[in-house]
Amino acid sequence: MSHRIPMDHPKFFGFIPSPVDENSYLGNMVMAMYNVGAGSWILGSGACTVQDALIQWFAEQAGLPSSAGGIFVSGGSIANLTAIVTARDAKLHFEQRHKAVIYVSEQTHSSIAKGLSIVGFHRKQIRRVDHDLSYRIKPTSLLQEIERDKKSGLVPFMVVATCGITNTGGIDDLNALADIAESENLWFHVDGAYGASVLLSKSHRHCADGTGRADSLTWDAHKWLFQTYDCGLLLVRDKRHLIESFATDASYIKDAAEASSDRVNFWNRGIEMTQPARGMKLWFTLQRLGLDKVGEMIDHGIDLAEFAEGVLRGFDNWEIISPAQLGIINFRYVPPISQPSDGNFDPDDYCDKVNTEISRLAVERDIAAPMTTRLGKVLNLRMCIISPQLTRNELFGVMQSLDAIAKEVSASLLHKKMFKM
Ligand SMILES: Cc1ncc(COP(=O)(O)O)c(C=O)c1O
Repeated sequence: MSHRIPMDHPKFFGFIPSPVDENSYLGNMVMAMYNVGAGSWILGSGACTVQDALIQWFAEQAGLPSSAGGIFVSGGSIANLTAIVTARDAKLHFEQRHKAVIYVSEQTHSSIAKGLSIVGFHRKQIRRVDHDLSYRIKPTSLLQEIERDKKSGLVPFMVVATCGITNTGGIDDLNALADIAESENLWFHVDGAYGASVLLSKSHRHCADGTGRADSLTWDAHKWLFQTYDCGLLLVRDKRHLIESFATDASYIKDAAEASSDRVNFWNRGIEMTQPARGMKLWFTLQRLGLDKVGEMIDHGIDLAEFAEGVLRGFDNWEIISPAQLGIINFRYVPPISQPSDGNFDPDDYCDKVNTEISRLAVERDIAAPMTTRLGKVLNLRMCIISPQLTRNELFGVMQSLDAIAKEVSASLLHKKMFKM
């Protein structure tokens, strides 16, 4: 087990880390011991009842109406896939499917395109709408694309916004996109796999204003709600849409049919029939910690990323590529070079190599794990800093070490280049 990257390590900053609260481990162990089947109420009436109440509570936090419902799933990818199927069935006649168009952005998570492909849509049916300088979908561009498609006889049916863009932590303008979706009668999906958790922070929940206008909302608790794998959630504005797409029928399950509206059979709301009670450890964690504490843990991540940004701004030669947003920051070291006369020298390539090497060495030397990404053409370091265990002091130490590695690496790479080693 030591031969792996522990995604819950406080200094693992790649992808979306998974800092886990000890209550989630405990809740997980208890549920594994009982091995409750949460597909239907008669198999796990306690777990189904608690999960359904929890889903209702999450829907309220998101600002969704009482008609809302949802299902716990394995994670953001399956939540998004479930939303795509639900949207397709709610908005399209079967004969329209080949003409349907979905609007996303360059920063939309790859699981959306994967889900669309699984469902049978072609790449040509996906529009990547222009974004602004903060990588947020431009509402005016969205409207133009929709108009163009309608004129070509195509059928716009779904807009995907992101609350917590994986690369940057940014949030699309949910209200502006919801306005367009509403006026054009499109399904409005918000992928909040990462960022929806900000709704549980009293001081930052306003950042995610507009989630309540979603037709469906993805929200992962194994990202920023301190849960073990797996724990994802899909919320839908009107739960009847889930049932229309996923109702399960077979002669051998008739005895388990939902006897009343409070006896939910989750196999009627999603892809899986057999399923664990994924929401129970989350319920347990929330009961044990209380909402104030969970909110503080989320705020801590937001504060740490802002702190890191401040530290970088105080160092020489570091450039902020995308400022701290929801615990994520993108930056790079730009070595001060007096360009060698060698005509083959490419400063951008050199800069990319320096930053790739900074990340590699930080991991190799057991300092921390910032990883690289690309925003536009620029390769940069990206840190998602959400561990409640990490202190500002420890983070300051990490940033100092990165600065020292940056100086060392840029000198050694430049030397190699100049002397063609
Ligand atoms: C915005 C977003 N959506 C979806 C996903 C996929 O989630 P999962 O890995 O749980 O399937 C991720 C993963 O990082 C994400 O950041």
